[in-house]
Amino acid sequence: VSGNLKATAIAHPNIALVKYWGKRDEELVLPHQSSLSITLAPLQVTTTVQFGAKGEEVELNGRPAQGRERERVLETIRRVRGLAKLPGGVRVASTGNFPPSAGLASSAAAFAALSVAARAAAGLAFDVRASSILARLGSGSAARSIQGGTCLWRRGRRRDGTDSFAEQVFDAEHWPDLRLLAVVLEAGEKETGSREGMKRSVETSPFYSAWAADAEAEVPRAIERIRDRDLAALGQIAERNAWRMHAVAMSSDPALCYFAPATLGLVSALAKARNTGLAAWFTLDAGPNPFILTDLRHQGDAGRLAREHGAREVTTCKPGGDARLSEEHLF
Ligand code: PMV
Repeated sequence: VSGNLKATAIAHPNIALVKYWGKRDEELVLPHQSSLSITLAPLQVTTTVQFGAKGEEVELNGRPAQGRERERVLETIRRVRGLAKLPGGVRVASTGNFPPSAGLASSAAAFAALSVAARAAAGLAFDVRASSILARLGSGSAARSIQGGTCLWRRGRRRDGTDSFAEQVFDAEHWPDLRLLAVVLEAGEKETGSREGMKRSVETSPFYSAWAADAEAEVPRAIERIRDRDLAALGQIAERNAWRMHAVAMSSDPALCYFAPATLGLVSALAKARNTGLAAWFTLDAGPNPFILTDLRHQGDAGRLAREHGAREVTTCKPGGDARLSEEHLF
């Protein structure tokens, strides 16, 4: 793989149960609080990187990348160039098996796959910490997609960010019956991206510091619930953390409301269905499409409920594995 300066990596996205919302350092992508996530199979992004190509070519889902998107990919490539003496240009191609703008955390999988592929193409040894930090610099949540199962991104304390990376807490086999349903209520780009949204929350929400302290304290509790495979207790933490993140977003100025009417409809229906025995809880990132946290036994009923409440598409995910190298290059 390292001989021809070309490598391909596959990474899954992840869904945070204790969310990351707010940076203490914009440049280095350092968070105010730790976060905890589950890596999601079968959703995945495959990325091939080749150094020594002519020019700088970046292709995402079959189309040349433009503007800021292209620039962010090349920033990651430049960071790897800084670590190894590499010839000439670069060619990058990336493709996902799910729609990039449906709020399914595609940037996390994309920057994780890019980081692992770029390091391998440059002949650097696989290293969880270095890959997680490299992915973090591309997109914070990508730090948590280098490994499978349950991943903890510790906020770290150092100014240079060398202690701010994610590591696996439990592998994908720890809880094989856990299910995460990706529910698409509305397709299309989100109005205010997470980068800009969380910045506004840090700068303007009077509740920001309370959010950060609370999220930090929720992480060890969530880890305990996952260790015990206690779905109801974990669901409760995931929901309240999502509500609190969105409370901070809504209390920003101007306010940020990521809930669509259909999101609220589904979330209320879910709470009602729990009273009649449905073991299912929601979480929501910076967009209108929730994930439903449930298990093998309840995934059918939870999926039906989502469809009855406007879901156009429901993708059933389970805990996925580590980001990994592949011999099947995209070019
Ligand atoms: O790193 P970003 O820009 O993808 O931010 C992710 C923010 C949330 O998805 C809302 C929460 C999270 O921890 O993934």
